[in-house]
Amino acid sequence: MQRVAIIGAGTMGRTHCNAYLNIPDAQIVAVCDLDRSKAEGLAVRHGAAVFTSYEEMMSAAEFDILDICLPTYLHCKYALDAMEHGLHVFCEKPIALTEEDALKMIEKAEECNVRFTVGHVLRFFPSYSNAAELCREGRVGVPRLIRTTRNQAFPGWSWQNWYADYEKSGGPFVDLVIHDIDWIIHNFGEVERVYASSFNGKAERQEHGIAILRLKNGTICHVEGSWAYPKGSVFRMTYEIAGTDGDIEYDSVKDAPVWIQSSEDGQYRSDFLNPMSGPVEPYMLELKSFINAVEEGREPLISGQEALSALRVSLAALESSRTGCAVTV
Ligand SMILES: NC(=O)c1ccc[n+]([C@@H]2O[C@H](COP(=O)([O-])OP(=O)(O)OC[C@H]3O[C@@H](n4cnc5c(N)ncnc54)[C@H](O)[C@@H]3O)[C@@H](O)[C@H]2O)c1
Repeated sequence: MQRVAIIGAGTMGRTHCNAYLNIPDAQIVAVCDLDRSKAEGLAVRHGAAVFTSYEEMMSAAEFDILDICLPTYLHCKYALDAMEHGLHVFCEKPIALTEEDALKMIEKAEECNVRFTVGHVLRFFPSYSNAAELCREGRVGVPRLIRTTRNQAFPGWSWQNWYADYEKSGGPFVDLVIHDIDWIIHNFGEVERVYASSFNGKAERQEHGIAILRLKNGTICHVEGSWAYPKGSVFRMTYEIAGTDGDIEYDSVKDAPVWIQSSEDGQYRSDFLNPMSGPVEPYMLELKSFINAVEEGREPLISGQEALSALRVSLAALESSRTGCAVTV
């Protein structure tokens, strides 16, 4: 049984806490958030201790794994400290905001001989992993063109609106599009060159970005992500893999046949649900996979190096969108 402490009881802290309820080999023993009521809200279902300071939690609670669900700019600081205390670390994506910080985290995990992984959860979505598997089996021939989209309204829920500060979140290329970048690198090959464009909207620096990635094997990827959709609009992700012998297409909205439309405080809302897809919960699968790696004393499925590779490409897209020039990775 692995004892887990969660730091950051916001959106992802809540998602992880729900997921752990279905992982018998893990027990949440502590939840830490600057806001006591948020930590309490999550801890109560697990009978976990509540803390409002990391330092307090470290001195008072005993656990094996720190699960970091903090804003991205805080990942590195807490991961390094936890590793120095001999703790295994699950860190939400993106690994960090700079290559330097990501490298520090990777090296510290090695030095302290602890397990470390990053939440590139798309690997655990059957709609994405099954398509990659079909490609590996050669069902569409050689993949030549990949198109992905990941579009949503600006993530306005965050603590102190930290997503709006791109020095803290990295903006959509680093925070959002990195999901697809990791999936592409892992399944279709390393990225050689990136050319990207983006625009800034007026409110809260809403942004829409498109990057063209050329892989070393010649495959071209058109990767698009947006925080520029209207408030209340549905989150939507799609992909198309065009191969020499066939094509695979996916659209999360078309995959969800139940469309609920509602209005709250004058705000239109639509939700797409897929009650027919069964009980697969990707966040539970990714956390379970890490717990198993820790229990079995083996490397996690997603390494820090892979998370760094995805970050490098996201940062290259950011640079290209700023300079207007292609960037070699
Ligand atoms: N894998 C995914 O699908 C996915 C989705 C959304 C966000 N994320 C990532 O998860 C991370 C968290 O994002 P979020 O949307 O949950 O943010 P959030 O703003 O909803 O939650 C962050 C929480 O951290 C707390 N906090 C801040 N500083 C703290 C400190 N020093 N000690 C303790 N608590 C502190 C805040 O009070 C807040 O409750 C980010 O890195 C984000 O990129 C991943």
